[in-house]
Amino acid sequence: MTRTDNDSWAITESVGVTALGVAAARAAETESDNAVINDPFARVFVDAAGVGIWNVYSNTALLADNTDIEPSVRDRVRLMIDFMAMRTAFFDDFFLGAAASGVRQVVILASGLDSRAWRLPWPDGTVVYELDQPKVLEFKSTTLREHGAHPIARVENIPVDLRQDWPMALQQAGFDPSQPCAWSAEGLVRYLPARAQDLLFERVHALSAPGSWVASNVPASGSFDPEGVRRMREEMQGVRDAAAKLIDTDVPEFEDLWYAEERTALAEWLDERGWEVSATTFTELLTRYGREVSYDSESASMPTQFVSARR
Ligand SMILES: C[S@@+](CC[C@H](N)C(=O)[O-])C[C@H]1O[C@@H](n2cnc3c(N)ncnc32)[C@H](O)[C@@H]1O
Repeated sequence: MTRTDNDSWAITESVGVTALGVAAARAAETESDNAVINDPFARVFVDAAGVGIWNVYSNTALLADNTDIEPSVRDRVRLMIDFMAMRTAFFDDFFLGAAASGVRQVVILASGLDSRAWRLPWPDGTVVYELDQPKVLEFKSTTLREHGAHPIARVENIPVDLRQDWPMALQQAGFDPSQPCAWSAEGLVRYLPARAQDLLFERVHALSAPGSWVASNVPASGSFDPEGVRRMREEMQGVRDAAAKLIDTDVPEFEDLWYAEERTALAEWLDERGWEVSATTFTELLTRYGREVSYDSESASMPTQFVSARR
């Protein structure tokens, strides 16, 4: 599944599937003992999407009940659920902090199946702008409408390709660059070429009034180390093989959706432009949210920095 400059997708295709994978992990975490997040809409999305590799994450009984499955596959699925749980908790706290500081404009870049506008306690007057591919947003709105869900904040959908001129579409939808904003780019940058990532944050910076906040999870140094990439591909192949067996469906190679390119270090880049930056790791988030794990969290996961900053 090769990427091209202007490719686009529906929720069950190409990069769209990654949004379902995240929702599936959030559903599993929400329904587990000692969950660190509560996303009641994650299961709604997964159910509406039908059958696919995401069921390996959302239906933990599938793996538990099948004794043929390699233990390494179970470990990788567990890691993925933990990773998405920590990531979700990190961004939830980021937005709650921004709202508490008085920010009332929120821009979710690559919103996918993020349901924060429907589930976080936003103060009155908050507007959440959601940007993603047209068919992804269409699936999301239709599913939530059919479920009878009502957003807590006002939601503005902006169907757009984030490699194109999204700032114009955002401002046409009512975004006011003279007011502070909380921006998130969660689970996005690996799916953008390095140059498109630079342009994305240049635009965010240009549209950020004082008092703005931004957060993103980005590849940390060593992310594209060939040995680590080889090991991760091998483990993902194990999950795909298991999924093909359990679900009887075509399973795409997600790693081919990434742009495995060296990138600008976001934390340093923001710091140089006067943002007050903090950065943390998956392991530190496991400690912060009290999750004990049986694997080596740094070497098992893709090296990631969780960056948040205030201007
Ligand atoms: C891994 S999912 C993350 C979704 C969401 N942020 C979350 O954490 O639940 C990646 C999302 O990025 C979106 N995306 C990736 N590249 C994009 C682009 N060029 N334009 C618009 N959306 C894009 C995909 O459609 C998908 O919804």
